[in-house]
Amino acid sequence: MPDHIYYTMQKAGSPFLDMRLLEYAGEDWYPFHMPGHKRTPLEFPNPYSIDITEIEGFDNLHHATGILKEAQERAARLYGSQKSFFLVNGSTGGILAAISAAVPRGGVLLMSRNSHKAAYHAAYLRELETVYLLPARTDFGISGSIQPAHVAQALEDLPQIGGVFITSPTYDGVLSDIQKIAEIAHAHNVPLIVDEAHGAHLAFSSEFPASALRCGADLVIQSLHKTLPCLTQAALLHVNSSRIDLDALGRFLGIYQTSSPSYLLMASMEQCIRYMKREGRERMFDFAQLLRQFYKRAAKLRHLQVFEGSSCRAEACFAHDFSKILISTGNSGLSGKELYDALLHDFHLQMEMSSGHYVTALSTLMDTPEGFLRLGSALEEIDKKSYASAPSAKPLDAQAIYQIPKPGLSISKALELPSEVLPLKGSIGHISQEYIYLYPPGIPLATPGEILTGSLLNVIAQCQSQGLPIEGPSDIGSHRIRVVKG
Ligand SMILES: Cc1ncc(COP(=O)(O)O)c(C=O)c1O
Repeated sequence: MPDHIYYTMQKAGSPFLDMRLLEYAGEDWYPFHMPGHKRTPLEFPNPYSIDITEIEGFDNLHHATGILKEAQERAARLYGSQKSFFLVNGSTGGILAAISAAVPRGGVLLMSRNSHKAAYHAAYLRELETVYLLPARTDFGISGSIQPAHVAQALEDLPQIGGVFITSPTYDGVLSDIQKIAEIAHAHNVPLIVDEAHGAHLAFSSEFPASALRCGADLVIQSLHKTLPCLTQAALLHVNSSRIDLDALGRFLGIYQTSSPSYLLMASMEQCIRYMKREGRERMFDFAQLLRQFYKRAAKLRHLQVFEGSSCRAEACFAHDFSKILISTGNSGLSGKELYDALLHDFHLQMEMSSGHYVTALSTLMDTPEGFLRLGSALEEIDKKSYASAPSAKPLDAQAIYQIPKPGLSISKALELPSEVLPLKGSIGHISQEYIYLYPPGIPLATPGEILTGSLLNVIAQCQSQGLPIEGPSDIGSHRIRVVKG
């Protein structure tokens, strides 16, 4: 940033920018989290100098015919899609538009239960009936892959299903067998949408699992900002099929995205695409080597344990993207939050997230050898201090987590009805008007429209007593939940 701008802001005393963002950027915190650029800029001008709007000669994202059309065509060529759209409010907008265009209003969507909330919101907005696919269970305690056989069974049983929605890779890096699932969906003439928000990098290296784009998915949504060097919110929606009505897709993108798309963001997508075209393959190869060295070192830890996809049964985890480094507390005696805090406060390593029993380091091709060395050394130090006899928490009732409560109403019907707030204990048999999430494994315990059961409430109580984060209900701290008025 030019000095004069920096000093003007300093004088004005902008607490958010100066005291937090700039001060933070000047310190030695290492980012094992999004965005994927890791605060290493690609060649980029002063943001103010290129922040324009849709003036003469600069095209219009919602009816692109000029420079933005060409930029999107370059993205399509790079990824090998038939057509690609720039998304300026993340994969969220792409998921909303993809589901809306692929499944008719009031239709039926077959979706993985561990889907991002945008998929549930699309079902709500389009008044869809939702039918769920439960991910496999893994020994590590995260959600595993979706089984192709379950997709086949659901499509046999319910010919009214209008679209299939799968998240692959998940936030934890777990992929499903998209090729098989696409074949099954297409045999029923149903489009497959893949939420590949965490997989924009996969297309650039055979050291990583294959992208859904190469496996026959009809629509693929990718967050460039998560795993590639691109500004936050930048994402792509790819179309690879004639099963999708492009007019409808364009219409929904126009509804869900801002009418003032940022030229900064779109320029950052263009730069990212150019960078990946020129150097992506080479940089991904080097990145994979760094990861291999890191995993080799981590395999020697005595108490902490780094997840390796190859340790899972194939049906539980079809493939794992090893750039998502999941560090289990193992028998260290630490909780996930304690490990996260130790890495943060003692070593200035900012992780992506912590859960009950592990932390996630999100790595990308922009990470440095020094970053991996710092993480490896920190884990070794923590591992040395750890004690082998961890107080083992009572295992959660997996049966209740990995089952879908009885459906009562569709999400949209439940959310439109009058509601009341009840104490959790008194809510059994009522229809939830809220989502209840536990992470991991990242599947909702309940969604609006589902009937709350005794075993579900037991799981919630158990999670809360173990300090595991239950999220969703607005008043969960007071053990209350909003339900459809009985
Ligand atoms: C699996 C998954 N899908 C979609 C999204 C939404 O992506 P975005 O933040 O780009 O809108 C997320 C965000 O974390 C995600 O984890």
